[in-house]
Amino acid sequence: MIELKNLHKSFEDKEVLKGISTVFESGKTNLIIGQSGSGKTVLIKNIVGLFEPTTGQILYDGRNYVAMNKKEKTMLRREMGMIFQNAALFDSMSVLENVMFPLDMFSNDTLRERTKRAQFCLDRVNLIEAQNKYPGEISGGMQKRVAIARAIALNPKYLFCDEPNSGLDPKTSLVIDELIHDITAEYNMTTIINTHDMNSVMGIGEHIIYIFEGHKEWEGTKDEIISSNNERLNSFIFASDLFRKVKEVELKEELEHKK
Ligand SMILES: Nc1ncnc2c1ncn2[C@@H]1O[C@H](COP(=O)(O)OP(=O)(O)OP(=O)(O)O)[C@@H](O)[C@H]1O
Ligand SMILES: [Mg+2]
Repeated sequence: MIELKNLHKSFEDKEVLKGISTVFESGKTNLIIGQSGSGKTVLIKNIVGLFEPTTGQILYDGRNYVAMNKKEKTMLRREMGMIFQNAALFDSMSVLENVMFPLDMFSNDTLRERTKRAQFCLDRVNLIEAQNKYPGEISGGMQKRVAIARAIALNPKYLFCDEPNSGLDPKTSLVIDELIHDITAEYNMTTIINTHDMNSVMGIGEHIIYIFEGHKEWEGTKDEIISSNNERLNSFIFASDLFRKVKEVELKEELEHKK
């Protein structure tokens, strides 16, 4: 579980995060949605420690990340897995070597154990047959799956994904979403995902926070989002075709019910 308490972040005189509080539970896919520029990436970067918040607390299972010293922060970072926008694989390393990289860096296991663990993770994302290929030889969706395998190699308690579906077609996005959702439940990780993708919201939005100009405008589940009366949220989600259709059907049913 990750808890944010009144998180603020300013860059010089520009306040980007204006006091965000929420709880991201473990075993759930927590989604952060909002318009471009609303502060999603800045928020996730604060949570993982790439930025330092101006004020506020970030509690990792009760442990206040902001108040930790450098050594404690480094230790906590080992419990985090991250998947950023471009899969960020090493082109000169094979798929297997990419997944082994964090193990080579941070574990004391033997080569044989590290190889076994990396192969286990690759198998989990259905890519064991591609282990000896290079990133340039596999599709974008496969690269994302390698990035997921690498992110879970060290068995993280916390998983962060900034726009994991960018550049992927809808069907491949669905595969990635389901994979992230399933491993989150399987390993009881606390997963936080930044997304623009309304298909993701409807597919895996177990807990959603909607950020509007740096503050939390709305919070709820994928079922609650359809019937929300929040105007800012509705105008954001109405921009998506999928949502317009779902909402229109709902409104029609409501009207018919009233007749
Ligand atoms: N290092 C920085 N210094 C100053 N301002 C920054 C910095 N990083 C981000 N910002 C500003 O913070 C605001 C929020 O940016 P952020 O990248 O978090 O948006 P976002 O919601 O992730 O958008 P997108 O959906 O396009 O990825 C923007 O106005 C941006 O210019
Ligand atoms: Mg962003």
